[in-house]
Amino acid sequence: MRRALILAAGKGTRMKSEIPKCGYPILNKAMILYQIEALERANVDQIIVVIGYKSKFFENLLGSRVIFVKQEEMLGTAHAALQAKSLLENKDDKTIILPGDMPLIHAPLIDKLFRSHEEMGNDLTVVSMVQDNPKGYGRIIYDEFRNIDQIIEDKDCNDVQKQTKEVNSGTYLVNNTSFYKNLNKIQMNSRSGEYYLTDIVKMMKKEYKVSVFKARNNLEFMGINTLYQVSLAEKYLRRIINQSMMESGVSMINPDTITIGHDVIIEEGVKILPNTTITGNTHIKRNSVIGPNTELNDAIIEEESLIKHSLIYDSYVGKNSKVGPFSHIRDKTVIGEKNRIGNFVEMKNTKTKENTKASHLSYIGDSIVGKNVNFGCGSITVNYDGVEKHTTKIGDDVFIGCNVNLIAPIEVSENVFIAAGSTVTKNVPKGSLAIARNKQINKEDYYKNLIKPKK
Ligand code: UD1
Ligand code: CA
Repeated sequence: MRRALILAAGKGTRMKSEIPKCGYPILNKAMILYQIEALERANVDQIIVVIGYKSKFFENLLGSRVIFVKQEEMLGTAHAALQAKSLLENKDDKTIILPGDMPLIHAPLIDKLFRSHEEMGNDLTVVSMVQDNPKGYGRIIYDEFRNIDQIIEDKDCNDVQKQTKEVNSGTYLVNNTSFYKNLNKIQMNSRSGEYYLTDIVKMMKKEYKVSVFKARNNLEFMGINTLYQVSLAEKYLRRIINQSMMESGVSMINPDTITIGHDVIIEEGVKILPNTTITGNTHIKRNSVIGPNTELNDAIIEEESLIKHSLIYDSYVGKNSKVGPFSHIRDKTVIGEKNRIGNFVEMKNTKTKENTKASHLSYIGDSIVGKNVNFGCGSITVNYDGVEKHTTKIGDDVFIGCNVNLIAPIEVSENVFIAAGSTVTKNVPKGSLAIARNKQINKEDYYKNLIKPKK
């Protein structure tokens, strides 16, 4: 059985953020989720997560997908790993230990690490990498036989040790029994008052086989400690996600400005224009065109649709529909087929059937709308009375004139016309014309009598 132990109890002080570091979003998705997915894909059967700072956050995020252990006091990485002792000390198999701030590791590499650890017959494998700028990382120090001697933290290095470019990735593979026999022998680091997991090397090398696995792709082991490093991780992911999308038939204009989240599905023939961000569980179907300047999160866009200069959150757009420029679609809105939702139109929690149009300057909220409905320019549903939200129902084949207010709760039946400028407060029966505005009065010769000619 393969097991994993993720250390995620730290606050992440260097991030200067309220969000616990390992939950910080990378392309709009919590950092730790990338690791958990990679571990699951690498057939790791049990994932244990050490939590401490804002532990509720992780319990809500991960639920029963992992086993939690709590570290009450942040006394360092060795102390964090010690919290899982009772779960692992008697298990006669291997565990990969990962810091929770390392989101870019992939399943094939995890698989390779387990295999290498086993083939080498190691008790402890330390995964190292070479960094041109090793600042902040623990350095790998070898003895005269080129065996690993110890890991020294950046702050504890002397000037010579600081030159070492081979660093600790923070990832280890351990045999549970020998690891936990030695873990509590680690002494507190006198400078920081913490127990360093890196000191396990010194503890175990006397009696057990300890080796280094030198990783080739440093980026996969990149630790995120600052918001700048968040941006570097995003840049790296953006590049690989966009490349694989383009290779599978999605075209992108200026892909450096296009950000696609890790879980997004985009089908062949879709075209994405510049400055577009697509995240969450979004699915874009064949031949749609998205962007420029568009943001989609948790959106489903059916085939042959066109979305430009718009925002769509948690909503659905039917086949052959056009949205934008400058539309805002949100909160479980379902737009039917062949709709036209245009300039400065906001839709919230609304359903429309096919061929409905709201082309300019409308707010449509909490509404159930039929097919072939035309919202004139500036028409709105008045859904909020200051206390509660109310529903507007509109049947098929309804023409709503410009600047109409529909005061909800209200029902407009099918085949109805509503005169421009009406403020409609009562239900409108099938087939009728509703006019709800003051009659016009024309006062003749008004101008002439008001403005007397100068003598
Ligand atoms: C650690 C390593 C360093 C390595 C680097 C790689 C130690 C002492 N140092 O340094 O050698 O080069 O990772 O990125 O291990 N955590 C807890 N409880 C604690 C302290 C930390 O759960 O009491 C967790 C953090 O949430 C984090 C992980 O452990 O996810 C690593 O901690 P961090 O403070 O980022 O360690 P580094 O200083 O980066
Ligand atoms: Ca770190």
